[in-house]
Amino acid sequence: MDNQYSGLWQHYVQTANHKIPEAGLMGQTAWRSPSNIAIVKYWGKHGNQLPNNPSLSFTLQNAHTDTSISYTWSPTGPEVHFRFEGSENKAFAEKIEKLLMQFLPAFPFLGQLKMHIESRNSFPHSSGIASSASSMSALVMCLIDIEQQLGAMLTDDERLRKASYFSRLASGSAARSVFPIAALWGHTPFHSGSHDEYAVVADDIHPVFRNYRDTILIISAGTKAVSSRAGHALMEGNPFAEVRYHQASKNTGELLHALHSGDLEAFVRITEAEALQLHALMMTSEPSFILMQPNTLEAIARIRNFRNDTGIPLSFTLDAGPNVHLLYPDEHHPAVNDFVQQQLKSLCQDGRLIEDRVGQGPQKMI
Ligand code: PMV
Repeated sequence: MDNQYSGLWQHYVQTANHKIPEAGLMGQTAWRSPSNIAIVKYWGKHGNQLPNNPSLSFTLQNAHTDTSISYTWSPTGPEVHFRFEGSENKAFAEKIEKLLMQFLPAFPFLGQLKMHIESRNSFPHSSGIASSASSMSALVMCLIDIEQQLGAMLTDDERLRKASYFSRLASGSAARSVFPIAALWGHTPFHSGSHDEYAVVADDIHPVFRNYRDTILIISAGTKAVSSRAGHALMEGNPFAEVRYHQASKNTGELLHALHSGDLEAFVRITEAEALQLHALMMTSEPSFILMQPNTLEAIARIRNFRNDTGIPLSFTLDAGPNVHLLYPDEHHPAVNDFVQQQLKSLCQDGRLIEDRVGQGPQKMI
């Protein structure tokens, strides 16, 4: 297994805190971590969760996971008891236990802990909003906090890098959730310090994007037709894969420039091109998937008409599903809200919407 891990894995194993917790030890931690919405999409990976192209996302504020861990000393750890939204969840507990076993060489103290983990999402269960980025980053923030309680000494930057690295191993896009405003994951010549193994903060963001809005149209709350694991794997035989990776790299450079200069026209163009390319890739995979629904296309047509008619730089993006994220500057919220109520809400399942905006990243809750 280890040969799939990079130099950084070796670094974290070698610098792990090997002090064994003492009998009687107990403590707790709690973190709130947000979801993120990719503008340049990560689709296609290799090795152990390494991206085939750089991706760039906005960190969200309202769509988040709250995770708390209370722990006690146990010589036969890691032992995990997991409750999701108030109920025992054995399947999730097993997944987390497996992940912690994988992390054990870098977090040896886990071998001596019994943990009661509670987790809850702010967005409704089965709203079609993926929770792996928020839930996995919240869990990792808790682990790194426990490590600190047990004596690890990391600077803030080291802590965030480590959180991003281990979040990535748990769920690729989670690597980007640990930073405020916007995060970049994957090496690009357009940003020094960018890396495939962890995300970095995309700094120097123009004020217009710092409180950008994301109104999510829940076109369908059903579960995904294709898991992201299967979706990434389909890129291996996709005839457009190389063109896509090239496009994503180019879009990353142009998006960084637009985010820095406040170029809304370029932002709209790149954002929509990325969303449609992601879906084009799924449509051209073998087997192929059409994840948009008729109301997704109707919403897109209405958004583009609204933009042409009003000049308001409202754009859309999509995840690997039918729901539509409306992205726009905060100052246009009243006009966009009227438009949503009059023309888009009726396209949503049971009229469901989630109001979100760019946020500040994970928060310690206790
Ligand atoms: O993190 P994963 O493996 O669930 O992949 C996420 C893929 C997209 O959400 C479609 C794009 C992205 O970059 O977040």
